[in-house]
Amino acid sequence: MNQLNCHQMADDFSSTPVELWDSVAEEYQAKSYEGQEGLYPANSFRTEILSEYFKAAPKGKILDAGCGTGDATRMLLSSGWDVTSVDYSPKMVEVAKRLTEEKGLSGKFAQCSLQQLSSLNDKFDYVMLNGVLPYISLEEEPGVFEQIRQVSTHGACLIASHYNLFFDLFGYDRWSVAAIKTGILEDAGLDKTIAAKAAEKVTSLLASPEHVVDKERTMKLEDPLAYRQKLKTYGFEEFDQAYYNFFYMPYRFEAEQDQQVRSDMERRLRRTSSGLLLARTFVSFSKRVA
Ligand SMILES: C[S@@+](CC[C@H](N)C(=O)[O-])C[C@H]1O[C@@H](n2cnc3c(N)ncnc32)[C@H](O)[C@@H]1O
Repeated sequence: MNQLNCHQMADDFSSTPVELWDSVAEEYQAKSYEGQEGLYPANSFRTEILSEYFKAAPKGKILDAGCGTGDATRMLLSSGWDVTSVDYSPKMVEVAKRLTEEKGLSGKFAQCSLQQLSSLNDKFDYVMLNGVLPYISLEEEPGVFEQIRQVSTHGACLIASHYNLFFDLFGYDRWSVAAIKTGILEDAGLDKTIAAKAAEKVTSLLASPEHVVDKERTMKLEDPLAYRQKLKTYGFEEFDQAYYNFFYMPYRFEAEQDQQVRSDMERRLRRTSSGLLLARTFVSFSKRVA
């Protein structure tokens, strides 16, 4: 979501307000999926990954939670899937409905937050959260996963995309330091004083420690290697991951990157370890086991 402009620090993360999503709803589809204004259509590669997965998946009911403008919804409706799409932003729901009707498809849309999914009084075989969980704070996360469980059948598949913690090290700015401190050193089981000393040394390598390359970094980051463990605590078993939104130069040189080179990388590298450092985002596939 490069185009969002909400200045929150990665180490002081809280959920984004609905008004923010309302304000970007009209431009979201063109910017994130269609490469408008020369932007890299990063999310279209996620739709490609999802489309490949659903081609081989047994038919069932799908919930597209935090559906935004409904790109994944339309991909699924056009292949005959039964999809319910919800979002807490009324404007996103309105745009999603309109774009779906324009394509001659008929979907089920409702305004609903992740925190109230159980009010749908329904169960789904697949729950998709594309680009939504990064905007749920750590405090809200257990409650949201409880809601996801309540609308999932036993054995349901959870598909969720996230921002990759390791990609953020690339920019080497204030965000990289925050990611190293909170995502890596704090989890390394080091003594507090030793971790603080290490963090100080990392910070000292920056010419301007307060400099921010990526001004719009507003989302919660996930460690793709540790995500499986987190899912387990919520009763889900991860069975696949795929990376998307590849870069071959650090973020600050984004404009100088050739989009064709990037899209070739998407297809070749999405399930390789290169994604760990070169892709900004990843999709996780898991099954409800508890
Ligand atoms: C980055 S957009 C992703 C939209 C869409 N899933 C996609 O991948 O194109 C995030 C979406 O999540 C929605 N969202 C964020 N927090 C939410 C919440 N707590 N409940 C429901 N929707 C939420 C926003 O309104 C926005 O439409």
